[in-house]
Amino acid sequence: MAKPQTKKSLESFNQELAEIHMTGQWVYEDLLTACIGGPRPRGDAFLWPWKMVNEKLTEACDVLEESFTARRSLLFNNPALPMGGTTHTMLMGIQMIKAGEIAWAHRHTLAAIRFVVKGDGKVFTVVNGEKCPMEVNDLILTPQWTWHDHQNPTAETAMWVDVLDVPFMLGLNQPFYEPYPGAKVQAVREKRSEHLQQRAGWVRPAWETSQKENLPLRYAWQDIEPQLRALAESPGSPYDGVALEYINPMTGGPTLATLSCWIQLLRPGERTKKHRHTSSAVYFVVGGEGTTIVGEKSMDWTKNDCFAVPNWAWHEHVNRSKSEEALLFSVNDAPIVSAFGHYREEPENSLHTAQIPAVPAPGAK
Ligand SMILES: [Fe+2]
Ligand SMILES: [Fe+2]
Repeated sequence: MAKPQTKKSLESFNQELAEIHMTGQWVYEDLLTACIGGPRPRGDAFLWPWKMVNEKLTEACDVLEESFTARRSLLFNNPALPMGGTTHTMLMGIQMIKAGEIAWAHRHTLAAIRFVVKGDGKVFTVVNGEKCPMEVNDLILTPQWTWHDHQNPTAETAMWVDVLDVPFMLGLNQPFYEPYPGAKVQAVREKRSEHLQQRAGWVRPAWETSQKENLPLRYAWQDIEPQLRALAESPGSPYDGVALEYINPMTGGPTLATLSCWIQLLRPGERTKKHRHTSSAVYFVVGGEGTTIVGEKSMDWTKNDCFAVPNWAWHEHVNRSKSEEALLFSVNDAPIVSAFGHYREEPENSLHTAQIPAVPAPGAK
């Protein structure tokens, strides 16, 4: 008499499939159900206080005598992201360059921005031959695959915020890197007529093709601040206060293909409404004192602190001062999310949705 065959259990079948590098989709059903209501925020809300960062940067000067191409940069690791990153797509850090020092020229497919914390305009970054002076609060782009070196010919240390799209690019496995051939620093475009920044303003040479992406742009604070002051009189966003996006002047689009930079003013006592969005952000406190509440966590911040807000986490900002404004520089990954149509906000979509001011009615003051 034939022996009755025992029915294979689902568990042993799953194991069999795993051994031949296959999976039944039913294994993921719990994961899919867990996505009802959206993703869990990836990474923690976390703050790196300036006092601590500044002390460690000073120590780094002693232990790392010359920065060379490695850069004397301290990177912020989100404690809830074991694979690295300040958020799941971006890496933030503070870089220091000592008096007389050069950070050698190189290029990589990782896009980066620099926001100057300490500099006097004689410190500079060269991007694809374009010399960009670094004054306090200037924003300088080193877009993907552009040659860049940093030079400090002054007698003082200089510092700036770095934000790169490292975790996103590593996720795509696209890290290319190249040191500049044969020299520590790259050649500089000396003639004004050769400056690329000249081609990104109100006019451009009619006889040239135009480069629209990955331009080596410098957003000088002396140009940005008056615009911020002018718009500070407007209602701003209920969720972000007076937040301005640094745009690519050639496309009208975000600062870079992967990163959008913002400067944000919170008026004295201003408290923004709570919201959440599918983009994550990293912040640098330019000035003032406030609190950012992310979920259950409150982060009190003051000048030069840095902090991270993960994606899809409810958050609000408070300017704790009743008399002083607060200024926040931030970088977000909305361009990545938006490129594939995945940008969402709750409780309502506020980004780029308000109407421009109407022309006043005749006789209105
Ligand atoms: Fe670099
Ligand atoms: Fe937000």
